[in-house]
Amino acid sequence: NSNYKTKEEVMQRIVELLSERIDYYNWVGFYLVDNKDKGLLTLGPFVGEPTEHEKIKFGQGICGQAASSKKTFIVGDVTKEENYLSCSPKTKSEIVVPIFDKKGNIVGEIDIDSHQKDAFDQDDKLFLEEIARLITDRFY
Ligand code: SME
Repeated sequence: NSNYKTKEEVMQRIVELLSERIDYYNWVGFYLVDNKDKGLLTLGPFVGEPTEHEKIKFGQGICGQAASSKKTFIVGDVTKEENYLSCSPKTKSEIVVPIFDKKGNIVGEIDIDSHQKDAFDQDDKLFLEEIARLITDRFY
């Protein structure tokens, strides 16, 4: 089924597929930079437990740090990360991959939590960064 049109529909399908097909991707979602407040992330399409962190300021938590640094952030053991916003006590590790517009401004990110410790490696990083680039090409 290839008739996905809006950015939201494409992002929804991406999070569904990633969470269905990759067993250690236990919470998969997008955070998008707020159109009015460029220092704020807002929760977008996601699959997994509902989170109370619908708005995250740049610099806050793993998501906010990845947004500030504009770099992929892998945390193998979230209990060792001081600047961390917990969504679920089941989460053990996390990866956050920034998404840019064609000028290089950050527009959002892919956030994935795993119930396994040290779940994410360089292959996850390269794979998710490729997805982020495809989103840039199509929508930003
Ligand atoms: N753990 C993230 C917050 C988002 S939840 O994982 C969905 C963080 O520290 O930024």
